[in-house]
Amino acid sequence: MTPAKNPLVAFGAGKVILLGEHSVVYGYPAIAGPLTIGVVARGMPSRSCVLDVPVTADAAQKRMMRKAFARAAKLVGEPKVKVTLEPQLPLSAGLGSSAALAVATSRVLLQAAGQAPTAKATARLAWEMEQEFHGTPSGVDHTTSAEEKLILYRRVQAPAGVTGRARELKSPRPVSVVVALAAARSPTKLTVGALRERQARWPERYKRLFGQVGRLVTDAAKAVEAGDLEGLGDAMNVNQGLLNALGLSSPALEDMVFRLRSLGALGAKFTGAGGDGGAVIGLFSEPEPVVARLTRDGVRCFASQLAGPRAQGDIP
Ligand code: MEV
Repeated sequence: MTPAKNPLVAFGAGKVILLGEHSVVYGYPAIAGPLTIGVVARGMPSRSCVLDVPVTADAAQKRMMRKAFARAAKLVGEPKVKVTLEPQLPLSAGLGSSAALAVATSRVLLQAAGQAPTAKATARLAWEMEQEFHGTPSGVDHTTSAEEKLILYRRVQAPAGVTGRARELKSPRPVSVVVALAAARSPTKLTVGALRERQARWPERYKRLFGQVGRLVTDAAKAVEAGDLEGLGDAMNVNQGLLNALGLSSPALEDMVFRLRSLGALGAKFTGAGGDGGAVIGLFSEPEPVVARLTRDGVRCFASQLAGPRAQGDIP
């Protein structure tokens, strides 16, 4: 393999799950959308295929990144490129940093190997990396990152490399969330593993709860397409109650959920794996004043539009 000739650059978007995390692992639908921030990967010609890990990552994260990189690099013939990662997202906060990293890295590796970084090719390679990060991922994170659209996603048993079916959800009204960080989060592998043990012990009880979440997701998809933000927000609130019933919430997450609701959120819930902490989302028709207020109070937060028409001058 000849060395990559020019510097390469690629982006992988972070994500939020609007509804359906965890039950999506068991084949139920979820709705997820891309963030405008994510991970930037840069590739420079090099004598070997190597990853320069971000300095902000801890030792365990660095180890996992190197392992995931080696797995993907091998599949594209180890092109001679040095990949440097620049995360714009907090790592391990439930905002899809590993999927964003996998997508950005896959795009650079594919280009360095002389292959087109199509959404399909990128998703296939990123999926290999995601398995190193999460063990048994549903595929919703890296699919959202590779597609960069608000999607209704369902995991499927399919040919190698295909993890699920995604359909874009369009909205006649802006679907905007405030993303607020509550306490440090437990690793996704742990939360997913603990839930797997509970559902294996009491399968009927957990199947009923997953089924309830699945129905909410279907209702919420209709609400998005009808521009019914109130209906969507209510489905998010009920989803949060079910996530709590599934044993996935914590005082830090619940506090932030109630704080966002007290600031006028149409719906609020945690997003991603949950556990001890992580990110909470609130659906707002006017998110900016809420971000200003929370920032004044010392909360790390930002706003993101996931779907719908954008105001003129907005960055898509
Ligand atoms: C993590 O962002 C979402 C989970 O549903 C895990 C997965 O889908 O692989 C918790």
